[in-house]
Amino acid sequence: MPAAGTGTRMGDSLPKQYLPLAGRPLIHQALRTLCASPRIARVFVVLAEADGEWARHPWSEPGAAPVALRCGGPTRADSVRNGLRAMADEAAADDWVLVHDAARPCLTLQQIDALIAAVGDDAVGGILAAPVADTLKRAGADGRIDATVPREALWQAQTPQMFRYGLLCQALAQARGVTDEAAAIEALGHRPRLVHSDAANLKVTYPADLALAERILLDRKGS
Ligand code: CTP
Ligand code: MG
Repeated sequence: MPAAGTGTRMGDSLPKQYLPLAGRPLIHQALRTLCASPRIARVFVVLAEADGEWARHPWSEPGAAPVALRCGGPTRADSVRNGLRAMADEAAADDWVLVHDAARPCLTLQQIDALIAAVGDDAVGGILAAPVADTLKRAGADGRIDATVPREALWQAQTPQMFRYGLLCQALAQARGVTDEAAAIEALGHRPRLVHSDAANLKVTYPADLALAERILLDRKGS
């Protein structure tokens, strides 16, 4: 789990992964789900070297605790690349790795199961994603619409993204400027599988997303 960002778009001095969300630090929400999944052997979380918050929120969940790696890099891809390298002693080339953003707190056990069920026998791997629902416009430099982009066949990439350890390390070693693991795998000429997810697995990017994520988590607790 990459969790070494600063959350600039959130506009808070505290990195967003530590903002309170439904009674605990945001980062604990998805970590708790990953640690609770019987399908996942080990959970590593990639922190910024200078992270002063992690130790202030003791892990209090039953079961195995996540392993903190203080090897975050300047970009998300750097953080994932460094984290994979730090796991090297524990991972074999054929092992599956799920990369999940700390900033997606509403991940469910069912979504993890659906991804693993769809991708576990795949030659390449795959990602959770949601079909684009809105009508899409391409903007000109003057803020006017240049074109309407057909949304059929367009998907929003989410996480987890699931690939074999060896292939993912190789892809990220070569990739430049990618914002997710799939793009690095695609750059090698592979075609990762899309696994249907929904909008509830949102990424908390702006302050309004935090309120929405809290609503989703509290609604689940109530049901
Ligand atoms: N991330 C990371 N290392 C970085 C940048 C991002 O581990 N150098 C992580 C974030 O902590 C987050 C995930 O990657 O869990 C997705 O990134 P994003 O939503 O862009 O988070 P931030 O980069 O923190 O936010 P912003 O882009 O607004 O600064
Ligand atoms: Mg970012």
